[in-house]
Amino acid sequence: YDVYLAHVYLATTAPTGSPPSPPSLTHPPPPRKLTSVKALSESPGLSSIPSIYTFPKQPNHEPVSDTKEPIPTIDFSLLISSNPDERSKTIRELGKACRDWGFFMVTNHGVPERMMKAMIEVCREFFELTEEEKGECEGKHVLDPIRYGTSFNPSVDKILYWRDYLKIFQHPAFHSPSNPPSFSEIALEYSKRTRGVMKEIVRGISESLGLEDKYIEKASRLENCLQIMVANLYPPCPQPELAMGLAAHTDHGLLTLLIQNDTVGLQVLHKDKWVNIHPIPNSFLVNIGDHIEILSNGKYKSVLHRAVVNDRDVRISIALAHGPAADVAVNPAPMLLEDGQNPLAYPAIKYKEYVELQQSSKLDGKSYLEHIRNRGI
Ligand code: OGA
Ligand code: NI
Repeated sequence: YDVYLAHVYLATTAPTGSPPSPPSLTHPPPPRKLTSVKALSESPGLSSIPSIYTFPKQPNHEPVSDTKEPIPTIDFSLLISSNPDERSKTIRELGKACRDWGFFMVTNHGVPERMMKAMIEVCREFFELTEEEKGECEGKHVLDPIRYGTSFNPSVDKILYWRDYLKIFQHPAFHSPSNPPSFSEIALEYSKRTRGVMKEIVRGISESLGLEDKYIEKASRLENCLQIMVANLYPPCPQPELAMGLAAHTDHGLLTLLIQNDTVGLQVLHKDKWVNIHPIPNSFLVNIGDHIEILSNGKYKSVLHRAVVNDRDVRISIALAHGPAADVAVNPAPMLLEDGQNPLAYPAIKYKEYVELQQSSKLDGKSYLEHIRNRGI
């Protein structure tokens, strides 16, 4: 922490017009010991943010205020209804939500509200541990099953994000930090229940594409799905207009199920405008990831989204990312090719490798699929 502050101090107090740095200082600095934004935001008298958190304006991404057009809502109880008419009507709505938005809310999903709240609270408790205790979960590699950190990828982020995170692999092998002690029990139950909801939505998506209901499930070997919990902490920020919680990105997996405390901050790119999302309490916010885009041959696109911060409230969100099994490389479903059409150029790459590449790169406002395509893999 001190090293970090010293670094910021030096950077911000260098007199203007000072001579160029001596050559030894032009080498990349040694890795900094980064503090959490939580600790930074709690520093006494913090009224402005260090320059390393300051983003230049993003003129083509001016946020719209709140949209008149609400994001679609899918009633989960109708999706699993035994009444075929109710079910097929809901599947059509689901297909439309995937095509038009790539984001939708899911209500009546059967996961108890107290379980969702307990999950948020125990993540809050994790972030309230001492820096030393949290540091034990730091993780060295992006595929380590437990990884606590700040920003997105500080070794490549030129500007840091106003966000701390905890990422934990929950399936096929369940992992948990040992602290707080109740984390493991709550997360185990929550991750199971979310997988159940995810599986039904994936079946609905499969059918909405005109595929057999288990097509995506089989193609991605969902029984071994890689499920990663990402808990995000966005502490209050004294200059929220200059900082960014998490830059625009798409999610790497098939489907993400997100919950949050009652503080807004998520924005979705819809028809080239940033839209603030106000989730219905007790619902899941669900979005299409890159691997549904691949499987659907681009019929459903993974959608750019980002998190902004505010100067009053702590925001906590918990995203459960569900991908194919780690060793599966999915392809566009052949049935979705129009007559004579070639499949879109999607990379045949194992999910695990895709996650590794995406998590090691820096967020630059594009879907990672575009990078991979441009690399011609
Ligand atoms: C994510 C994500 C958004 C949020 O973790 O992938 O998009 O609202 N989070 O925290
Ligand atoms: Ni995301």
